[in-house]
Amino acid sequence: MTQDELKQKVAYAALDYVKGVSIVGVGTGSTVFHFINGLAEMKSGIEGAVSSSEATTAHLKKMGIPVLDLNDVGTLEVYVDGADEINPNKQLIKGGGAALTREKIIAGASKKFVCIADGSKRVDVLGKFPLPVEVIPMARSFVAREIVKLGGQPVWRENCVTDNSGHILDVHNLNIVDPSELEKTINNIPGVITVGIFSLRPADIVLVSEGEEIITF
Ligand code: A5P
Repeated sequence: MTQDELKQKVAYAALDYVKGVSIVGVGTGSTVFHFINGLAEMKSGIEGAVSSSEATTAHLKKMGIPVLDLNDVGTLEVYVDGADEINPNKQLIKGGGAALTREKIIAGASKKFVCIADGSKRVDVLGKFPLPVEVIPMARSFVAREIVKLGGQPVWRENCVTDNSGHILDVHNLNIVDPSELEKTINNIPGVITVGIFSLRPADIVLVSEGEEIITF
């Protein structure tokens, strides 16, 4: 199976978790792209979706799924999203697609966060994937210097402006042994909008496609 086929397989497996749900939170990325296709095919009585990015909004609309404002919806039953890294405690690195802030908001507003990924995303310790940090543009250099003090090597993702008009620093060489502590520390640097560690609000259920198998934990 190709990596894209693995993403499609796990995305379709997640459809079981939205049966009977009227409004679903929808993440961003190539795995979620397949999930949206599945949602449209399922014709399950989904009334609409809360979207985590402009890219997801465009695809939802293209597939005929109404996009709703989180402010009007309140608490969501289920949020489905991908990840860049997943550790055994269901803590994640996200933000490879620059949508981390809205993703974290929707994860926080949801009762159940179902994370979907191909097997290449599983790790024992987070940090090999460069950690995305969304920042207010004028704070970019300052935040980068603060992150160097923490032992990371930040690289500005040039030519990337987020849906919130932020910039992204990708932080290399972090060995994230205490994800919650680092999430709090980086969040507390002035100018940081969101750090891509999802530990204080981890996933509730992880579905991973490994060959023909779907592993759930
Ligand atoms: C978007 O900002 C990310 O958090 C994605 O959820 C993550 O990068 C996974 O993307 P893929 O499904 O494309 O691997």
